[in-house]
Amino acid sequence: MHDAELLHDFRSTRERTLTLIAPLTSEDCQIQVCPDVSPTKWHLAHTTWFFERAILQQYIEKYIPFDSTFDFLFNSYYEGAGPHIPREQRGFITRPALDVVQIYRQHVEAAMLHLLHSTNSEEVVRLTRLGIEHEKQHQELILTDIKRTLFANPQYPAYRESEFSAVTPGALQFTSFGEQLAPIGYDEGQFSFDNERPIHQYYVKSFQLANRLVSNGEYLQFVQDSGYTKPSLWLSDGYDINRRDSKRAPDYWIEKDGEWFEFTLVGLIPLNANAPASHVSFYEADAFARWSNSRLPTEFEWETAARQIAGGAADTQPVLHPTFDSGPGIRQMFGQLWQWTTSYYLPYPGFQPDPGLVAEYNGKFMNEQRVLRGSSCATPAGHARTSYRNYFRGEKTWQFTGIRLAKDIA
Ligand SMILES: [Fe+2]
Repeated sequence: MHDAELLHDFRSTRERTLTLIAPLTSEDCQIQVCPDVSPTKWHLAHTTWFFERAILQQYIEKYIPFDSTFDFLFNSYYEGAGPHIPREQRGFITRPALDVVQIYRQHVEAAMLHLLHSTNSEEVVRLTRLGIEHEKQHQELILTDIKRTLFANPQYPAYRESEFSAVTPGALQFTSFGEQLAPIGYDEGQFSFDNERPIHQYYVKSFQLANRLVSNGEYLQFVQDSGYTKPSLWLSDGYDINRRDSKRAPDYWIEKDGEWFEFTLVGLIPLNANAPASHVSFYEADAFARWSNSRLPTEFEWETAARQIAGGAADTQPVLHPTFDSGPGIRQMFGQLWQWTTSYYLPYPGFQPDPGLVAEYNGKFMNEQRVLRGSSCATPAGHARTSYRNYFRGEKTWQFTGIRLAKDIA
């Protein structure tokens, strides 16, 4: 087997992971500041474990694992692969040290390249492609997790020193889409996750979708209008969180002497009104929408619009923070912030999990989570697509999440 594109993608994806961690110290890579956030070192090892456990251990006869204890340490949630360390204890793994994990990566990469050069197995190709896309998902997690990690540091260090660029957003406008039986899901020849399949028809009533994301400046008006303490705007679970945490602004916002600041990957900076509002929960997005006489879209409305507007998924390299761009039409569908939808994460009609160990990849999480669409500034180039479904519980805020408004058409 010699699939030049697959080999190139494997090599370049593995290299990019190392590029992403270059600004970090070994201490940055070790700490786990909360259960949702995994240490960078764990991401480096887990993405490697995925290739070793799902491919090398399955398809190389008498393969000897690099270290037999790694199955326990670096398995995330694959019960079929055996027991694994609880998620909130990933920061306890001070050994192996970071340099041993780097050697583990090199060891598995060499074995993978040898296998890819010597096999004709379609299963190996399928799982290698999945492993590459899996590592890209963890590249995004490395950035989102290190942002939360550095935010927990009282000195608010930057991941990387850089200028914060912002473009003035144009007026918020709505584009109408007529009622239709819309194709939803993936039907092309490239890679897709099992949760995007099969493509099917879905009835979408006429609706309107906002031409851009909600800005910090618009969200600040909601904050200053005491939006967080008006129960009529909130779903009950969201209002309970506000009360429990005395929450009155997004998580990365800090007020000092009446001035608002925002923590970003380039450090703590004055809140920029011309940046998209980010790190909001589903409840915050939903309350903001209600406050502005709008609503959030369903995932079916979002995909229907995305299929009909010019330009697909962003193929540019990610940036360190979300920005607006200028131009006509519906903007920022990809590459800035994941967009909350009202849709629960459920299987499509006829859904079949991918076979084998990776059947646990997506399907078992189809419970009590909301779908997010698009992609974020932390998403690797070429990873997302129109049918891509991200999913988190409604209260989660550590991902690069934002607000795309929608409206009914009377
Ligand atoms: Fe994973």
